[in-house]
Amino acid sequence: MAADPLPTSHALPSPFSTSTTPLTLIAQGAEALLYHTTFLSPTTPCALKIRPAKPWRHPTLDKRLTRQRILAEARVLVKCLREGVAVPAVLGLDWETGWMAMQWIDGGSVKEAVRGRDVSVNGADGVLKGLMRRIGRAVGGLHAAGVVHGDLTTSNMMLRPIAGETADRLRGEIVLIDFGLATQTVQEEDRAVDLYVLERAFGSTHPREEGTFPEVLEGYREVFKGAKGTLRRLEEVRMRGRKKSMVG
Ligand SMILES: Nc1ncnc2c1ncn2[C@@H]1O[C@H](COP(=O)(O)OP(=O)(O)O)[C@@H](O)[C@H]1O
Ligand SMILES: [Mg+2]
Repeated sequence: MAADPLPTSHALPSPFSTSTTPLTLIAQGAEALLYHTTFLSPTTPCALKIRPAKPWRHPTLDKRLTRQRILAEARVLVKCLREGVAVPAVLGLDWETGWMAMQWIDGGSVKEAVRGRDVSVNGADGVLKGLMRRIGRAVGGLHAAGVVHGDLTTSNMMLRPIAGETADRLRGEIVLIDFGLATQTVQEEDRAVDLYVLERAFGSTHPREEGTFPEVLEGYREVFKGAKGTLRRLEEVRMRGRKKSMVG
C-alpha cells in the first residue's frame, strides 16, 4: 500500500480540508482516489473515495456522472447494510465536490491473504476452503438482497479480523467493497455473470487455488434460495464464454 502524500494540486473538500488527520492515499483508480483518514472525529477512521472532476469531459456531463455514480454506490451500500450484508457503512457524501466517506475496514484484501497464505502448515487447504465457502456466502447474501456487485474480484473483498480469533491470515469476516459498478437487479443473468466474473478473476489471480472455487458455489447455495437457477444460468454463461474465446 502506497503512502503518498496528497497531491498539492488536489483541493480537499470540507470537512476534510479542516481536519488535522493526515490523508493517506491508498489507491488511485481510473475514476476515483481512495484515502485513509478520519471523519468528523479524530477517532473515527474512514475510507474517503474522491471522484475528481474529469477535465476531458464536458463539465455538465461530468457533474451529472459524478453525482449519479456517488449516489448509486451509496444507495447500494445502504441497502446492503439494511439487509445485513457485510459492507462498509456510509458516513457521508457530497456529490457536488464528488466524495463519499465510508467506515474504514481493518484487515487486508482477500487477494493479499490468498497470495500470502502459508501452504506448508497442516490443514492449509482446509483453511482455504473455509475462506472460499465464506466468500460464497457473502456473494449469496448480496444476491439475496437484490444487488449484483459488477466487479467481484479478490481485491474487492476484505478480511476483517474477528476479535478473539487467532490471527490466521485466512480467517476473519468477508466484507465486500467497491460498489462503483453495482446495480440493484432481480435478473438471473446478472447474478450468473457476477459469479462468472468472480470465477474468471479468481482463476487468473490465483491459478494454484483455482480448484477450490466450487466451495464458493457451495457457500452461495447455502444462503441464497435462488441459487439453483443462478447456477444453472452460470453454466450457460460459461458456455458462451468458451465459444467467444474459440472464435476470438
Ligand atoms: N472501506 C474501506 N476500508 C478499508 N480499505 C478500503 C475501503 N474501501 C476501499 N479500500 C481500499 O482501497 C482500495 C480501492 O478502493 P475501491 O473501492 O476498490 O476503488 P477502485 O474502484 O479504485 O478499485 C481497495 O482495494 C482497498 O484496498
Ligand atoms: Mg477495487
